[in-house]
Order: sequence, then C-alpha cells, then structure tokens
Amino acid sequence: MNGRLPHGGFAVNRMGRLTLDGYDLAEIAERFGTPLYVVSEERLKRNYEELVEAFKTHYTGEAIIAYAVKANFTLAIIRVLALKGAWAETFTGPELHMALTAGVRPERILLTGACRVEAEFREALEAGVGLIVVDFPQELHRLEKVAGELGVEARVLIRVNPAMRVPTHPSIATGVRGAKFGVDIPSGQALKVFEEALALNWVKVLGIHTHIGSKIMKVKPFVEAASRLVGFVEELNGKLGFKPEYLDLGGGFGVPYKPEEFEKPFDLNLLARRVSRVITSGFKRLGLGLPKLIFEPGRRLVADAEILLARVLGVKETPTGKFIFLDASTNHLSPVLLVDQYYEMVLVNKADMEPSETVSFAGPLCFTKDIIAVNRRMPKIETGDLIAILSVGAYCKSSYMMHNAQPKPPTVMLSKHGIEMVQRGETLNDLTARDFIPPRLYHASAEPS
Ligand SMILES: Cc1ncc(COP(=O)(O)O)c(C=O)c1O
Repeated sequence: MNGRLPHGGFAVNRMGRLTLDGYDLAEIAERFGTPLYVVSEERLKRNYEELVEAFKTHYTGEAIIAYAVKANFTLAIIRVLALKGAWAETFTGPELHMALTAGVRPERILLTGACRVEAEFREALEAGVGLIVVDFPQELHRLEKVAGELGVEARVLIRVNPAMRVPTHPSIATGVRGAKFGVDIPSGQALKVFEEALALNWVKVLGIHTHIGSKIMKVKPFVEAASRLVGFVEELNGKLGFKPEYLDLGGGFGVPYKPEEFEKPFDLNLLARRVSRVITSGFKRLGLGLPKLIFEPGRRLVADAEILLARVLGVKETPTGKFIFLDASTNHLSPVLLVDQYYEMVLVNKADMEPSETVSFAGPLCFTKDIIAVNRRMPKIETGDLIAILSVGAYCKSSYMMHNAQPKPPTVMLSKHGIEMVQRGETLNDLTARDFIPPRLYHASAEPS
C-alpha cells in the first residue's frame, strides 16, 4: 500500500486499485475524465453523525451543528448535510444564496460576516434567517436601521474576540489579540457593545458568538474559549442582567492530513465532554439555564469526504529530483501557498504497491510554486497512471484560484444510488461568457505590421 488512507471508506480491490465506498476510482476516472473531484455522501453523513453523537452524549442541553458552507458550497454537499439536520453558517450574501438554493430552511441559517452592508442585512432579514452574528458596533446600528425599516426583529448574536493564543497557522487564527474579527473581551469593548445592543429596538440580542480559528488539532483551545465565554457571561449577567439563550463556539476542528497527525487525531468526544463540562458547571454556578450550543464546523464535515483524481501527464528527471506532472494543479486545491497545506497522495491504479522512490508532484501551471507535494515516497510512477489527492473537501473548490485560464473540474458524488454528477466542469464557453469585446474593437482590423 502507498499513501495513508484517512478512513475506512477507502479500500484496495483485487486488481490492486483504490476504491471509495466500493467504487473503483480508476473506472470512475476512465468514465468521467480527469481532473475530477469525487465526494462520498456516506462520509459526509458519518462526519455529521459523529459530531451530533458526541454532543448528545455529553451535553444535556441542545447542541446545534451548523455547516460552515465556506468550506465547500457544492449544493449537493450542503443539501446532504441539511437533510441530516445540519444548520448552515454563511458568511456573506452569496453564501446565504448558496444555502437557500440548496434548500436549507431559512430559520436554520446563521449569517456571520466581517462587515456587512445594508443590502446584505436586508436580504438576510427578508429571507428570515434564524440568527445574524454582528461583528462590531457600526454593523449593529446598520442592522438596527434595516430591521426597523422592514419592521422585523433581528435575532442577533454578537461576535467576541477572546484574545487568546490559538495554535494554528497565523493566516487562519481568528480569536487572537489584534485580529479583525469580533469585539475584544479583555479591554471591556465587548461589554460596551452588548450594553449598546441591549438598548436597541429592533435588534434582539440572544447570545454570544466566537470563532477562534481553523485547522486546530487540539481540544484545549476550545475549552479555553468556552471558559472565557463563561467568564464573559458572568460579567454580562452581573452588570447587565443578560442571560444568553445561545452560545456559539464557531468551527475550527482539525482533521489529519499528514501521516503523523493520524497518530493524534482531533478527539471529538474529548472536545464534547470538556466543553460541555465547562459550560454546564459555569452556567449552574451562575444560576442560569443551559444555553443552546452552536458549533460551525466546516473542515471537519467535508475535508476527508472528497478527493481529487488526477492523471499523470509526464515524468521529468532533473539533477535535483524527479517531477511527476499531473493534470491537476495547486489552483484546484486550497491556497497551498497561504497555509502550507499538505495533501496525501495515492497511486490509484497500483495502490497495493509499496513505495520505491522519492518524487515531487507538480501541476502544469506557469508558476514555480505550482507544486502539489514535495519529496514523497511512492512506487514507480509512469505517464498515464492515476493519482488520488486525498482530503480535498475543505477550502479547495470554494477558494479556487483562477490561473492560466484552466477550467474548473467537475464533481461526482458516490452513494448507494450510484455515481451522480453534482457539479459539471467549466467549459471553454464558461471562461469567456462574462467578457464583452466592444463592437468598435471587434469590427476593427489589425494594423498591418
Ligand atoms: C465564523 C466562522 N465559522 C466557522 C468557520 C469554519 O471553520 P472550520 O472549517 O475550520 O471548521 C469559519 C472559518 O473560517 C468561520 O470564519
């Protein structure tokens, strides 16, 4: 076997080929072409169930799982999770549109965001979203104005920044001092904003929101965030008499990408047990009823449910090593340059072979860092072989970078109902569909050279 498989949905069949949910991935690539995203419906459902079960076991109040659609807004994926009962966390008007189009019930949608304009608040209130998370005072007053104009109550959580240390890549650490998100707890700013919000007419403050960062592999920071929120609730309750109905701890639960991370995976049960204990004991001590807990996982729900299949276009020897060129490239993956993302690679059509050489995987794009994986131990790879890039479900398609006019690949979903196309690939016509050449240019003839 080559490559480390993230879950039991993968296997190697009698022909030595990698399968997902029993489907031969080499056959799928043959039928649909490459590059191709392949998503497992079964895995999406499992991931959701695992989270729900963990909180059912450890929290006696209500726990809501809201899928952060920013991680992957393929409509069929949002739909699968919504049918299981997930809420949706949307960060922008367009993400809200995706969730509504996928059929998520508006009252199960949270609109978070960094700096919304009136039109976005209007759209959210008209759609009837369940909760709006306000980030800072100017937003609060914008929302009050729009809600007043529409004559509807805005159900609101206020995002706070616990200003703590968050062990993840700095680009995706959000609950740290000086971050652009939320209102700061330690300086007293958050308390002031709650005071201001509680005096408004159309804004109904129902709770507190935080999101400390993404790709966090340890439980401890979440426990610390929960405990800081409890401390803040004590202050809010003592000084303003506020009793939160909701406590939203955001998302951020990590998944293993690197082989060494598989040895210490993020422990959901431990998270649920420790966070529930902090909140339950804290609220009991304060004499308050248990809040409804909200979590907004993105990565955890989708990352390991999707892979990218890519064909080997060529093998290039250089004085410093061997490059395997694929028909997939870094722009089909999450912003690799931003977060140094590691992806596990498997040679699909020879999955049973042991590694025998060290290679790097490159895409065909016109920039030096279009390198998907560096110095990996693999079996001998030949042109025409098929590679699976694993765990690409989170922040790949949704943060796609256009480069060299490469069209976006299609996505198929695997389930017990078969293999279904859930997103077609971009066509060459799609690439030019938004452009206009003004008639004066179109009908002009080129200067003779
Ligand atoms: C407000 C909010 N909630 C949830 C998430 C989801 O994070 P993750 O995919 O790491 O679970 C994010 C990600 O940036 C976010 O900004």
